[in-house]
Amino acid sequence: MVAPVVAVERASQLRAEIERHNHAYYVLDAPSIPDAEYDQLFRQLQGLETEYPELLTADSPTQRVGAAPLKEFPPRQHGVPMLSLNNAFASEEVEAFDKRVRDGLETIAAIDYAVEPKFDGLAISLTYENGVFTRGATRGDGVTGEEVTPNLRTLRGIPLRLKGEGWPALIEIRGEVLMFKADFAALNARQRERGDKEFANPRNAAAGSLRQLDSRITAARPLSFFAYGVGAGADALAAKTHGEMMNLLAGWGFPVAEERRVVQGVRGLLGYFVEIGAKRPGLPYDIDGVVYKVNRLDWQARLGFVSRAPRFAIAHKFPAEEALTEVLGIDVQVGRTGAITPVARLKPVFVGGVTVTNATLHNEDEVRRKDVRVGDTVIVRRAGDVIPEVVAIVSEKRPMRDLFGGEPLHPPFELPKACPECGSAVARGEDEAIARCTGGLYCPAQRKQALWHFAARRAMDIEGLGDKLVDQLVDAGLVHTPADLYALTIETLAGLERMGEKSAQNLVAAISSSRQTTLGRFIFGLGIRNVGEATARDLAKHFGGLDALLAADLASLQSVPDVGPVVAASIAAFFGEAHNREVIDGLRRAGVVWPEGEPQVAGPQVLAGKTLVLTGTLPTLKRDEAKAMIEAAGGKVAGSVSKKTDYVVAGEEAGSKLEKALELGVPVIDEAELQKLLEKGVEQ
Ligand code: IVH
Repeated sequence: MVAPVVAVERASQLRAEIERHNHAYYVLDAPSIPDAEYDQLFRQLQGLETEYPELLTADSPTQRVGAAPLKEFPPRQHGVPMLSLNNAFASEEVEAFDKRVRDGLETIAAIDYAVEPKFDGLAISLTYENGVFTRGATRGDGVTGEEVTPNLRTLRGIPLRLKGEGWPALIEIRGEVLMFKADFAALNARQRERGDKEFANPRNAAAGSLRQLDSRITAARPLSFFAYGVGAGADALAAKTHGEMMNLLAGWGFPVAEERRVVQGVRGLLGYFVEIGAKRPGLPYDIDGVVYKVNRLDWQARLGFVSRAPRFAIAHKFPAEEALTEVLGIDVQVGRTGAITPVARLKPVFVGGVTVTNATLHNEDEVRRKDVRVGDTVIVRRAGDVIPEVVAIVSEKRPMRDLFGGEPLHPPFELPKACPECGSAVARGEDEAIARCTGGLYCPAQRKQALWHFAARRAMDIEGLGDKLVDQLVDAGLVHTPADLYALTIETLAGLERMGEKSAQNLVAAISSSRQTTLGRFIFGLGIRNVGEATARDLAKHFGGLDALLAADLASLQSVPDVGPVVAASIAAFFGEAHNREVIDGLRRAGVVWPEGEPQVAGPQVLAGKTLVLTGTLPTLKRDEAKAMIEAAGGKVAGSVSKKTDYVVAGEEAGSKLEKALELGVPVIDEAELQKLLEKGVEQ
């Protein structure tokens, strides 16, 4: 039945009214109507939508209840990458940050900073098209996240349609999903009553609730949202500062931190840190520090980014939480690259939001320095997502042989001479802090971890090939290297314990479809020491194809942005091993393929190993263009001048960097001379 005009109008009125009450309740924390009346409006709207399904719109508040479960979260590329922040713990680090900012902007005046709490939840990007919420995704690797739109729709604090006006046709709102402390306590009480598992802390509860394939479960969880920035669409905003931008977001209906403010200079920053630190216990949600951002947006753009973090912002973290507990034993673990790490097994203790039972002792020297022994009472520390560590021992509490002192009950810790996993010799290079098992991929511990890593979601993404299964495959001698995975058959797999015919089929299908991959994932999956996901992607982009990468020497590896001597050496060493080349050949023979691109470096690497600094306005080249040209020629562009700088390229209105160059005797050139360098290279 076609809906009569009155019904159309009434539905639209109800939608607007309900969202207004939602906003008052969930965003402004000032309820504007009694619950019973709200429920009545809600039911009226539901009634109309049931009677005339054509009236149902995606932005209707009735759609916040969750939808049919998904099979998986689809990957979703962000319009603008989601970055991370560099951390500061000590005031000196904040001072250094402020100095870098002023050096970068070439000013000595105090900077205006927008300051706000650092929410301890998970980062989310929300896309609005013509003011309507169309999709939302988790941060993922920063470039691609997981789309969790149906789940995000259930959050009452997220507007389904923007209020007011002035938003660009497409905008990405960035912020944090979290759970309020009181909501967390109530949720855990409910879990306890039902005999369900309780969550360790609000952050885990928020993450677990958002990553539900069934959004009806998310709808039943009390999640909140705070906006703190804009991705795509930021250029089109009528805001000159971060503060103004936050006011726009608040006006469009987003919850923003009440504690946000603009302060001046380092004193302002440190004052804010102390103030929020004092307020922290009374805040309704968990925070793990504060965030400082250069307030002027044009200055943010000018400062730009280093690697994956902005130069214009920093997180000032609160000190990590500490607790006392007892060492029950000291084990060693063998890492993916053979690193032997001593680990203290602890009497369980609640610290930093979780129960800790193990803590890293880092390496042999650290254990000796701290002299940690079995039976010792120790201070353990844990912050955020970091691995818990033993800070120090409480020496008065060391158990002794008798009451009158004398000998300690337990001897000092010694690193085993043989790998506990494979018996190979444990060796430690002269200048190295880390001892390693020399067994390489013959060591089952290393082999297993290399395989887990290869199959991981961010590498080759083989669904269903989890840690346990890899252990089984290696223990049964079915898989030695990643290439062996592609030879597995349904029959072999179905013979394994706890593996049905159906799971075996699914796994073979998942392994098979992982053959179509990208070069970046492939490189990351190889597990080269010091090559993380971002570096792998940079290498893929830079060289275009695997053969060009395999043929690269140390100098050309170092011409990749963010690849320094250490990373370049790791890459060269990895590809230098015949064994690794064999694995790569095996994978190619098994049919693993990726689209090859054009290498980015066409020209000769005339500036390889050279560091340049740009300052002032160049006559024809924009700063980004000059930077790209220098990098394409193998050079690096640094943000500040030091003795290691080879050239300073100065244009109009060059400031403190030029002065520094003159002071240090670094050669100063202009744009024309830069062009000549790019053509001819540096004459030796
Ligand atoms: S701004 C370009 N502001 O911290 C800057 N991040 O380490 C992008 N976070 O993943 C981040 N509160 O989830 C920003 N007020 C705040 C924040 C905040 C929490 C998280 C965010 C991000 C992480 C960065």
